[in-house]
Amino acid sequence: MVNRIPLIAGNWKMFKTASEAVETAGQLVDLVADTTGVDIMIAPAFTALDPVSKVVADSRVGLGAQNLHWEKQGAYTGEISAQMLTASGCRYVLIGHSERRQYFGETDDTVNRKIRAALDADLLPVLCVGETEGERESGQTFSVLDKQVKIGLQGYVPQDLGSLIIAYEPVWAIGTGKTASREQAQEVHQYIRSLIETTFSPALAGAMRILYGGSVKPGNITDLMDMPDIDGALVGGASLEADSFSQIVKFN
Ligand code: PGA
Repeated sequence: MVNRIPLIAGNWKMFKTASEAVETAGQLVDLVADTTGVDIMIAPAFTALDPVSKVVADSRVGLGAQNLHWEKQGAYTGEISAQMLTASGCRYVLIGHSERRQYFGETDDTVNRKIRAALDADLLPVLCVGETEGERESGQTFSVLDKQVKIGLQGYVPQDLGSLIIAYEPVWAIGTGKTASREQAQEVHQYIRSLIETTFSPALAGAMRILYGGSVKPGNITDLMDMPDIDGALVGGASLEADSFSQIVKFN
C-alpha cells in the first residue's frame, strides 16, 4: 500500500491584509517548525502571496493560492495566471472551491481548464468537490461528485494527474460548524477513490491524497484522520489563527 503523506491546508479566503497575513504566517512557521511527516499549506489572498512567500521560504509551510485563470496571459481584467502565482512563490492552487462555484460562476468546465493551467505551471492543483445540503437530502451525493470529478478531469490521462489533490468539502459543512461525521466523510472519500480507480488507474487512486474540508477544528481532526481514506484537511475558519491551525497540523 502506498504511503500518502497527509496534507493540512489552510484556506484564508478573503481575510487578512498582507501585513496581517505575514504576521500569522510567521507565527505558524515557528509553531510547526519541528513537525515531520505532514505537508502544510496556507492559501492567503493574492495581495499577500508575495510577502508571505518570503516568510515561509525554507520553512515547513508551503504556499498556495485560492484561484487562478486558465489562460497564460491576456485581456482578462481582474484575473491571475498560473505563472503569476509561481512567480509569487506558490506551490499549490485551490481550484473549484464551492464558494467560487456558488458566487462566481465556476463550473466543472472552467475547473477542468484551470487544472490544465496549474499542471502546465507545475503547481499542485487542489480540486474541490462537494454536494449541497439539498443534494445530500435528495440522495444525489454520489451523482454530484461523479459529475464534478468526471467533468473536472475529462480529457486527462493518469500520467497527467500524479500531483492532483482532491478536497471533499460538503457545502453544508463549510463554515457552519456542522462537520460531516467521520463515517460520512470516509464513505465519500472511498467513493471518490474508487471513481479515480475506475476512470484512471488503481495506482493513481492509491497514491492520490483526498482531503476533507468543512468545519475542521483541533477537536475533530484526530478522529477524521483515523479514517483510511482521509489524507488531510482543507481548513477555513480554524486556519486563520496560527495557534488553532498548528494544533490541527499536529493532529497526532
Ligand atoms: P471551514 O471552511 O473550515 O471554515 O468550514 C472550509 C473551506 O471552505 O475550505
